[in-house]
Amino acid sequence: MTTRWVFITGAAAGIGRQTALTFARRGYAIGAYDIDDAGLATLATEIEAAGGQIVTGHLDVTDSDEFGRRLDEFAGHSGGRLDVLLNNAGILLAGAFEDISLAAQQRQIDINVKGVTNGCHRAFRHLKNTPGSVVVNMASASAIYGQAELASYSATKFYVRGLTEALDIEWGAHGIRVIAMWPLFVQTAMTENVSTGTTDSLGIRLGPQDVADAIVAAVEETRIDKLIHRVHYAVGTQTKAMSVGSRFSPAWLTRLVNKRLAHS
Ligand SMILES: NC(=O)c1ccc[n+]([C@@H]2O[C@H](COP(=O)([O-])OP(=O)(O)OC[C@H]3O[C@@H](n4cnc5c(N)ncnc54)[C@H](O)[C@@H]3O)[C@@H](O)[C@H]2O)c1
Repeated sequence: MTTRWVFITGAAAGIGRQTALTFARRGYAIGAYDIDDAGLATLATEIEAAGGQIVTGHLDVTDSDEFGRRLDEFAGHSGGRLDVLLNNAGILLAGAFEDISLAAQQRQIDINVKGVTNGCHRAFRHLKNTPGSVVVNMASASAIYGQAELASYSATKFYVRGLTEALDIEWGAHGIRVIAMWPLFVQTAMTENVSTGTTDSLGIRLGPQDVADAIVAAVEETRIDKLIHRVHYAVGTQTKAMSVGSRFSPAWLTRLVNKRLAHS
């Protein structure tokens, strides 16, 4: 059987790392990229010790040229295949909008928005040359309704949602699936020191393995997913309930629920 190759950004820690380990256990070859070189080295040791195949490299997703170089190197190892691109790298800033410096908010936009754009754009020709390729973008439950105390973060995930929906339609003609994952809060370094009204109301109930399992299942789509052409994958019961609720409740009620959850 042909080995499937997955390229993961932000792979050194959290969801990206757990997803790399999970794909590796299923026989995929891993391309792991991050700004955290030490984290990548321990990931490579872990995967190789378990008999898996991995290549790693430094990548700041905001640097589109570096993204292109890493993809070319990856394709050199994979024989040109790019079965799965996981645009996972992201950061989260929590707090009152006016208290978070503009420089920090702009950096967040660069990573969460431009990083995903860079990945999709640079990867296109590799994806196009790989039958059945999939792009997985990390959205978030905070793209269901704008989140107080996570305003810019939440807005970046609305961008990811829009890009995913549009490219899913555009790239269908090239045989490329484009999907988005929608977890609520996950226990990783990202949420370690985050305390907002919403984290207080809803808790942080998911672990990185929950998201990794959902990503692998989404990539290996079920017959029903295929039949309904599923693009968005809510992760966890809370997100599933919230996304269904927001689809059927009137706008004023969705706003009120979000306001209450944020304790504001
Ligand atoms: N943790 C959550 O609650 C949660 C919920 C929903 C969605 N998400 C999304 O999942 C993704 C992963 O989040 P996580 O919780 O694993 O975070 P994390 O902080 O645990 O890990 C993020 C990884 O991305 C890397 N990274 C940061 N900036 C980078 C850059 N410029 N270039 C390349 N790599 C970079 C970090 O070094 C780190 O290894 C993010 O897109 C996040 O928005 C997280």
